[in-house]
Amino acid sequence: MAEEVCNKQVILKNYVIGYPEESDFQIITGSIKLKIPEGTKDAVLVKNLYLSCDPYMRFRMTKVDGPTLMDHFVPGKVINGYGVVQVLDSTHPAYKKGDLAWGFTGWEEYSLNVSPPLLIKIVHTDVPLSYYTGILGMTGVTAYAGFHEVCSPKKGEYVYVSAASGAVGQLVGQFAKLMGCYVVGSAGSKEKVDLLKNKLGYDEAFNYKEEPDLDAALKRYFPEGIDIYFENVGGKMLDAVLLNMRENGRIAVCGMISQYNLEKPEGVHNLSVLIAKRVLMKGFVAHDFYPKYPEYLQMVLPYIKQEKIVYVEDISQGIETAPASLIGVFTGLNLGRKLVVVAHH
Ligand SMILES: NC(=O)c1ccc[n+]([C@@H]2O[C@H](COP(=O)([O-])OP(=O)(O)OC[C@H]3O[C@@H](n4cnc5c(N)ncnc54)[C@H](OP(=O)(O)O)[C@@H]3O)[C@@H](O)[C@H]2O)c1
Repeated sequence: MAEEVCNKQVILKNYVIGYPEESDFQIITGSIKLKIPEGTKDAVLVKNLYLSCDPYMRFRMTKVDGPTLMDHFVPGKVINGYGVVQVLDSTHPAYKKGDLAWGFTGWEEYSLNVSPPLLIKIVHTDVPLSYYTGILGMTGVTAYAGFHEVCSPKKGEYVYVSAASGAVGQLVGQFAKLMGCYVVGSAGSKEKVDLLKNKLGYDEAFNYKEEPDLDAALKRYFPEGIDIYFENVGGKMLDAVLLNMRENGRIAVCGMISQYNLEKPEGVHNLSVLIAKRVLMKGFVAHDFYPKYPEYLQMVLPYIKQEKIVYVEDISQGIETAPASLIGVFTGLNLGRKLVVVAHH
């Protein structure tokens, strides 16, 4: 007989309008047999170790008509997202008991994942395992592809990053410094600004919440204009950046978190700058660049080991903390990559 254990799970109670609140979620205790049911092919049963709190999850809390990049969550059902897992049982040829992997899993203590290809096996374990929720996972690919592939950076260029201390932003800044660029970041608190300047190697940083005139702030830090803008926030910041782009500049549209909780998105007014300044503005999705993951790992692992790249994590303990951890990302409560420890390896 397979052992049956309690399985705490995070459930979405209702579709969300506006900012998500803790009361939109519920923790319930189910149970699960620690063995894959007889006859279930290509499945892995995993213990979830770490869950990552990602802004895109906000899209999945609302039901929208028409095609979307990812399925929305279903009220009353366990939500899912990126995480780090350990395999307890497998009927998939590529996985065996004890394997570690990162990728899609349920927000619960144990998950039966019947699509293991959505997981990527972890080979390098001489680095913190939690890094696979960030620098060594989807977030890392986002920063790497967004900066190197979409922005085509050159030594000496002027780079601006918004939400600069977050999971993605902190990496973009460090990649830009390694390229020999001048890098300025913005963030929403003094603590974050200090982190950018003192730990993450940014040349300059400012608190956008204390700048009544964002255009003037950018002119102060970029008297000659911006070559590359790594866009994480959208809204008023994008409009101010547009006014400061240099000729042949590039804007990589990674995210627009300032818009995710608005019922009606703000307009963007200064797009005509793209014409005269010949600016390229391009959106991208990390998933499209997963074929580059091995190349990225080869580049980043030595930097981590030599401490030439650092990674700041903001860790909460226990699955009970998951709803508050996730919603905190939308009000800037996180300092670095927000993740939840569900179990220790
Ligand atoms: N394209 C892709 O494939 C892809 C993949 C991953 C992430 N993303 C996007 O990349 C961006 C950053 O994601 P992340 O995982 O690195 O998150 P994060 O930066 O670690 O956390 C989100 C941060 O956004 C800032 N923020 C929240 N509301 C804001 C607002 N109204 N205006 C300005 N800033 C606000 C907060 O920092 P402050 O305290 O500084 O305000 C918060 O800490 C997001 O837009 C996300 O959707 C895109």
